[in-house]
Amino acid sequence: MKILIIGSGGREHAIAWRLAQEGHQIYGAPGNPGIAALGQILATTNYLGAAKSVDPDLTVVGPEVPLVAGVVDEFRAAKRKIVGPARDAAQLEGSKIYSKEFMQRLRIPTARFVRVESVEAGISALAEFSTPIVVKADGLAAGKGVIIAKDRAEAEAAVRSLGPRLVIEEFLQGEEVSFIALSDGKNIVPLEATQDHKAVGDHDKGPNTGGMGAYCDGRILSEADARHVMDTVIRPVVDATRFTGFLYAGLMMTEDGPKVLEFNVRLGDPETQPLMHRLDSPFGEVLMASATGNLAGVSLRWRRQPSVCVVLAAAGYPGQLRTGDVITGIERCGTHGQVQVFQAGTKTGAKGLETAGGRVLGVTASGPDLAAAAANVYAAIEKIHFDGMHYRRDIARKGIKRWD
Ligand code: AMP
Ligand code: GLY
Repeated sequence: MKILIIGSGGREHAIAWRLAQEGHQIYGAPGNPGIAALGQILATTNYLGAAKSVDPDLTVVGPEVPLVAGVVDEFRAAKRKIVGPARDAAQLEGSKIYSKEFMQRLRIPTARFVRVESVEAGISALAEFSTPIVVKADGLAAGKGVIIAKDRAEAEAAVRSLGPRLVIEEFLQGEEVSFIALSDGKNIVPLEATQDHKAVGDHDKGPNTGGMGAYCDGRILSEADARHVMDTVIRPVVDATRFTGFLYAGLMMTEDGPKVLEFNVRLGDPETQPLMHRLDSPFGEVLMASATGNLAGVSLRWRRQPSVCVVLAAAGYPGQLRTGDVITGIERCGTHGQVQVFQAGTKTGAKGLETAGGRVLGVTASGPDLAAAAANVYAAIEKIHFDGMHYRRDIARKGIKRWD
């Protein structure tokens, strides 16, 4: 098939890599140098225009921004097959207020919250919560719209900086799990649960990022927990919205069971990188089934070997970034543990491959067990260099402990 992939990050490179391995012809809009090596790049954000020029059999949308803007509705109106939710359903990610009220209406387990529309209302609402207090901006914020305030002064500052339209909610304690399922509007196929690492530093210290690494090993959720999440979270959303595409529930596994922190209406980044590495089913066919309402009876197979992705970030990330640093060593990573280096914030500059964003590369590998998979990733990282490069040294450690 000819498959157009919308987006330009590590998630999209991983999707492209997987689909290219299956023999599909890859187009990327706007793409990145990693995707360019696998197919043809269309340097545009006029996605329907790109589709008209290459006439793909199928289009897959990576990021949330075009989904929230209605790219799926636009493609469907033009009778083009596309994987992703319609604009209405994409509001589950586009507006935190909409998403929380939706969960309340459907009785989907989530943190207790209030919605406010002004800074004054926000500040008085803080009295209803004990610290730490979670303050969330309503709209899309690329991972920067949530502040976990440890005291009231910080919470007030958060209300002022993120307001006026906010969700203020109770802090939930537990382990975070990313649960993603693919739907065709009716039938649902769960992917394996993954675990992301949101904080920039080891031991979950420091500010939140888009995600510093992820892994999947088939053991993050028990079968019973996965079924429970399907029944109490994913199924109600799909039935209420006729959701198509990837629905991502960010879960907190609390003492009272799984609760939803957020919905995303797309695959996760970096969760997609280890998922694509481990998937053992024909992904192109599964995507086509989602776009055409044919997911009934489909299930996904996963390789036995766990997979791990560690993100290499640019100087300053997640704060003020520096870009333009030369990247070397990717070609030296070899194929031990089938290492794949997925590109995200890169560009081809005067001196070769250069950094061009916060999360630069996602080094991904498998291994006979989770510890070996992580060791393969960290051995590969030794070979890569760019000035200011930093990464977490403890990706997958929670999972490795679970095996002990
Ligand atoms: P969100 O964009 O809503 O997923 O929030 C980003 C991150 O903030 C999550 O991945 C969690 O690490 C953290 N977070 C969000 N809401 C809560 C909460 N109610 N309790 C604890 N941590 C939270
Ligand atoms: N890794 C978190 C996200 O994709 O939103």
